[in-house]
Amino acid sequence: MTATKTTTTGSAGDFEGRLALVTGAASGIGAATAEGFAAGGAHVVLLDLDADRLADRVAVLGEDRATAVPLDVTDTEAVAEAIASAADRHGSIHHVVNCAVSFLAAGVDATAEQWQRALGVNVAASAMLTAAASRRMPPGSTVVNVSSISAHAAQPARWTYNATKAAILALTRGQALDLAPAGIRVNAVSPGWIWTPEVEKAAGGDRARWEPVWGRYHMLERLGEPSEVADAILYLSGPRSTFITGTELMVDGGYSAMGPEGLGDTAKFAGSDMH
Ligand SMILES: NC(=O)c1ccc[n+]([C@@H]2O[C@H](COP(=O)([O-])OP(=O)(O)OC[C@H]3O[C@@H](n4cnc5c(N)ncnc54)[C@H](O)[C@@H]3O)[C@@H](O)[C@H]2O)c1
Repeated sequence: MTATKTTTTGSAGDFEGRLALVTGAASGIGAATAEGFAAGGAHVVLLDLDADRLADRVAVLGEDRATAVPLDVTDTEAVAEAIASAADRHGSIHHVVNCAVSFLAAGVDATAEQWQRALGVNVAASAMLTAAASRRMPPGSTVVNVSSISAHAAQPARWTYNATKAAILALTRGQALDLAPAGIRVNAVSPGWIWTPEVEKAAGGDRARWEPVWGRYHMLERLGEPSEVADAILYLSGPRSTFITGTELMVDGGYSAMGPEGLGDTAKFAGSDMH
């Protein structure tokens, strides 16, 4: 098992004087991303449903570095207001990261209402937020959308979630094309299993029991940390990725590259004639 990294690097000064807007910023990958932007010098506007946890995040980051805006990302009026007030206060919006998510996972029994909610939060709200923000983003700005290994692999009874995550990749390519003339780069990251509250819930809080099981879905034989996804998001948002747009970066410990043989016991015999 490889070493786990738990803090977000946020290269010092990379985001000095910039404004980043992060949805789903009260928890998990969004919270780690907001932390990284703030560490890199940005002011971060944190959008999330969870007002209490947002307030906690602002207390940690400091009011000079972070502003909390409790809202539902499907509320287009509230989103438009948040964008206008952030852009008016700071001049421009430089970075958008769409992390807010409905984890609603249903398969053959999914209702029309469930489909609407999953598509509404994960695809339409994210698309509309980026569209609205793009009008206030100068050349050199970036958008990062969060997809998943679930966009690529079939998983039991997860039609809704997986379809929305695949749609995010198509959306990313379309946004990259249409926003390129404005100098805005748009990319996606696709995490493997990351230890966030949703995974913690599935594990009943027992990481020691479940990490050896779920870790084996990944070549690195462990779960990822929110900060490891945040670092990829910060890379795609920052000054070292200026010729990268319209693409997807897997942050999945090798999950998607693994074949049906899994970790394969034969690997232990590398160099022998066993294949
Ligand atoms: N955790 C994983 O293993 C994993 C794996 C692959 C992809 N992802 C993706 O990473 C992203 C972040 O996931 P996470 O695990 O950090 O989640 P999380 O549950 O820790 O955080 C998600 C946040 O989104 C907020 N949110 C949900 N619906 C919202 C809405 N309608 N409006 C505003 N905020 C809303 C929640 O309140 C929560 O704070 C998601 O897009 C998810 O699909 C996560």
